[in-house]
Amino acid sequence: MEISVKTLNFESMKTPCLVVGVYDKCKLSDSAKQIDSISNNFISKLLQRGDISGDIGESLMLHDVPGMQCERVLLAGCGQASELSHQGMQNIINNVATELNKSKIKSATLSLADINSKTLSNSMQIRILSEGLHHNTYQFSELKKENKPSLVKVTLHVADKEQMKKAKLALDIGNAIGIGRNTARNLGNLPGNICTPAYLAKQAKKYETKYEKLKTTILNQKEMEKLGMGSLLAVAKGSRQPPKFIVMEYSGGKKTDSPYVLVGKGVTFDSGGISIKAGAAMDEMKFDMCGAASVMGAMVTVNELKLPINVVTIVPSVENMPDGDACKPGDVVTSMSGQTIEILNTDAEGRLILCDALSYSEKFKPKSVIDVATLTGACVIALGAHPAGLLSNQQQLADQLLAAGTEAGDRAWQLPLWEDYQDQLKSNFADMANIGGREAGTITAACFLSRFTKKLNWAHLDIAGVAWHGGDKKGATGRPVPLLTQYLMQRCDKQYSI
Ligand code: BES
Ligand code: MN
Ligand code: ZN
Repeated sequence: MEISVKTLNFESMKTPCLVVGVYDKCKLSDSAKQIDSISNNFISKLLQRGDISGDIGESLMLHDVPGMQCERVLLAGCGQASELSHQGMQNIINNVATELNKSKIKSATLSLADINSKTLSNSMQIRILSEGLHHNTYQFSELKKENKPSLVKVTLHVADKEQMKKAKLALDIGNAIGIGRNTARNLGNLPGNICTPAYLAKQAKKYETKYEKLKTTILNQKEMEKLGMGSLLAVAKGSRQPPKFIVMEYSGGKKTDSPYVLVGKGVTFDSGGISIKAGAAMDEMKFDMCGAASVMGAMVTVNELKLPINVVTIVPSVENMPDGDACKPGDVVTSMSGQTIEILNTDAEGRLILCDALSYSEKFKPKSVIDVATLTGACVIALGAHPAGLLSNQQQLADQLLAAGTEAGDRAWQLPLWEDYQDQLKSNFADMANIGGREAGTITAACFLSRFTKKLNWAHLDIAGVAWHGGDKKGATGRPVPLLTQYLMQRCDKQYSI
């Protein structure tokens, strides 16, 4: 997807399709007004007939509009301009991209970033449009012959020339997030027989070659044994795929700046292990590495934007399988922290690999550590598919992440991490059990992790509900790449606020 920002003349421009907005109750946007006057009230006459009222989701394709050189004009419903929200703008561009793809249009000009909204600046609108264009033209085509035609080139019209500098920055951010997010989706969508721990490690090495400021280190099983990662290795034991511990270090800041650390759960397939899962929709457990995919995607975005900070991404990666050598319910293992864990359910494996990765992260003396994981089915029940679950041992960090999520249109919702829940993890045979019973499953999973993050400014994002769609639209979403990037951009002074 190639996107540019320009100031254009509507009357003389030659494009396969020019897209302009119509607000609710048939109000014309500034661009639609211009076309209306060029075409001798052609647009307002059509609106009077009632073919489109201007609600978000509506659209009307017009051909050969009088006085215009372009082939088509697409009127896109934009709802109530002043109340436009991030989610609303995302819906507008989803809809526009779908309409353009339906008409097999390869190249188009969008004049939609002129909405007078109370909450979204015009440059934020540019960013949402460019992110949305990447998102809605994405296809997972690596393993399929069929490839639908799709939009490849878009020009975004910027009415006010003085806004051009900001618009360019907004486009850069939108492009970088779009690319990072689609990277995460590609990794997520690959099946378990291709996307193994070794495959993730190979990809991380590829990024090292591509990006100048990035260094990738892969630890193998022996090295993990030396570090005492007994918890992570217990999960890996049941698989023929060797585990990999992937560390990507980006240095965009000063040498002495301590980094922000992102940790992503990289279970490339979660069968449940000996506590094996039921068969229905088990294929979707190939998405159990979407936490890893999102932190790797965020790392791609950080490199594309060359953010002036240091960021470390850690991906503990294993496959969770049943086997003669697999760990069993009742097994007790020793984590890197020295704390012992009774594995009462081998399907609660995410926390077992994350705890060792969190302990490992201490060596970077990080400013903050955020882990991202498809950790609990309970989170899907609690929050559904809209926000990620957020738990943290520092309210300031939680607030920063909540704000970043809202700003980026990729929201999270906080759950309590109270001491009261810790009792549920009691074990008669080890320092803790790896499960806390039926109640508050998302919280007790985070309680488990909190025992390994006492020295850290730490937050946990449970993305079980947001990382992928099931059903007809089955596929990875690439969330929470926008939230993570927003959080990191907000740590870089004011230069990335648009
Ligand atoms: N990867 C799953 C969580 C999951 C399940 C995410 C379904 C999305 C949809 C995780 O490893 C898991 O199996 N968790 C268990 C924990 C339980 C055994 C305490 C769960 O949620 O059932
Ligand atoms: Mn599991
Ligand atoms: Zn899992």
